[in-house]
Amino acid sequence: MKADNNCIVIFGASGDLTYRKLIPALYHLYKIGRLSENFSVLGVARSALDDESFRQKMHDTLIKLENASGEILEKFCEHLYYQAINTSDAVDYAKLLPRLDELHDKYGTGGNTLYYLSTPPSLYGVIPECLSAHGLTTEEFGWKRIIVEKPFGYDIETAKALDIQIHKYFEEHQIYRIDHYLGKETVQNLLVLRFSNGLFEPLWNRNFIDYVEITGAESIGVEDRGGYYDGSGAMRDMFQNHLLQVLAMVAMEPPAIINADSMRDEVAKVLHCLHPLSNEDIKNNLVLGQYTASEIDGEQVKGYLQEKGVPEDSTTETYMAVRCQIDNWRWAGVPFYVRTGKRLPTRVTEVVIHFKTTPHPVFSQNAPDNKLIIRIQPDEGISMRFGLKKPGAGFEAKEVSMDFRYADLASPSLLTAYERLLLDAMKGDATLFARTDAVHACWKFVQPILDYKAERGRIYEYEAGTWGPSEADKLIAKHGKVWRKPSGLMKKKV
Ligand code: BG6
Repeated sequence: MKADNNCIVIFGASGDLTYRKLIPALYHLYKIGRLSENFSVLGVARSALDDESFRQKMHDTLIKLENASGEILEKFCEHLYYQAINTSDAVDYAKLLPRLDELHDKYGTGGNTLYYLSTPPSLYGVIPECLSAHGLTTEEFGWKRIIVEKPFGYDIETAKALDIQIHKYFEEHQIYRIDHYLGKETVQNLLVLRFSNGLFEPLWNRNFIDYVEITGAESIGVEDRGGYYDGSGAMRDMFQNHLLQVLAMVAMEPPAIINADSMRDEVAKVLHCLHPLSNEDIKNNLVLGQYTASEIDGEQVKGYLQEKGVPEDSTTETYMAVRCQIDNWRWAGVPFYVRTGKRLPTRVTEVVIHFKTTPHPVFSQNAPDNKLIIRIQPDEGISMRFGLKKPGAGFEAKEVSMDFRYADLASPSLLTAYERLLLDAMKGDATLFARTDAVHACWKFVQPILDYKAERGRIYEYEAGTWGPSEADKLIAKHGKVWRKPSGLMKKKV
């Protein structure tokens, strides 16, 4: 299904996200015929650009990043427009009125407008207010939707305040909170794996599952985002949003049907069941770390405190590991170990379901626990690990695996996360966007950890290129477990 005719207004159009992610995503959608010819993009920012210079900039970017060329590129760029305004000044928004009228007329969009906030969060409240002051949020003439990038608040109080502010001008059905992890094919695949097979769901509970690991590891450091990252840290940057959303997909109950309401009801329900952590729990079940300089593959790598934009006495965590519990019938007593960090040995996001061992060891040497490894990225796929007889005398078991690689499913139109989510927003499908109650449930769980960290949190050092502080190994070892050290999921087919 194609997107509705519409005009996409990108606030923060001169920023990094616009040319790294948004414009390439729109370009691909256009190229594969998923955008109607009747769309236009109006870039809005303070920078003094005009239609021509904005187009040229995007044109160059698409050539550089996407290897774009030819007629499609030229035709796509004709749909791009730009309006410079002072985004903090309500009066200046008047300039948008004639521009939008002209674009709605030219492209027959019926007034449908998608606003994308790709600005610093300090403008998230201001822009809706200014749009409303000029009558640009009402749905009398076409739909009006607003996409808000994370972070949705800085803590629970600011998240609530932001929500109140945006809700003054937009109704919940108009608000699309983007968490790009929900746009990833393999995160959605978790739902299909669980709810469209008879095989897994009967085992997906406390009776058969021993524990769950969720890992979001990155090998890069903070790169040139030190200024932003230092005010955020791993907890706000990855855990509060992306990884808790993944946890929700693993742990939620089956929705009655897949639509925005039933899906998001179940997501919110399970996030509300996260066991609130007391200070004592946090002391025993949380490890925070910060990377230090080291040498990786013969190359000197900076420590976090030497990164550009990071104060030299920063106590921001670049690593966190936490043991969580979910208080409901399905999961009572099953720990979820979640960890994320920068400058770890490899880039990998995966979920590992560890099944309980057999109740009685018949053989002298049983196989290790059965595991289902769900690799979200890279090398997307699923690997099932179980024991079979080691050839030869006796009855020794050894671990073998059955592997599925996503790449083997030839799919000509696999969409990236931003492509999928932009398209859904243009079609009015909010299923894969975070709803306000789920966002609050995440903050409610994270807030005591933030408070604990601010008052007495200890940050352990780990060398860049290692799997985090050794304390994280102790955290899980206390319960007789070890972190999986993910490497290549499965052998590449030749
Ligand atoms: C972003 C974070 O939301 O997600 C980044 O701000 C992080 O710090 C990125 O690197 C990870 O996304 P992905 O899709 O590369 O796993």
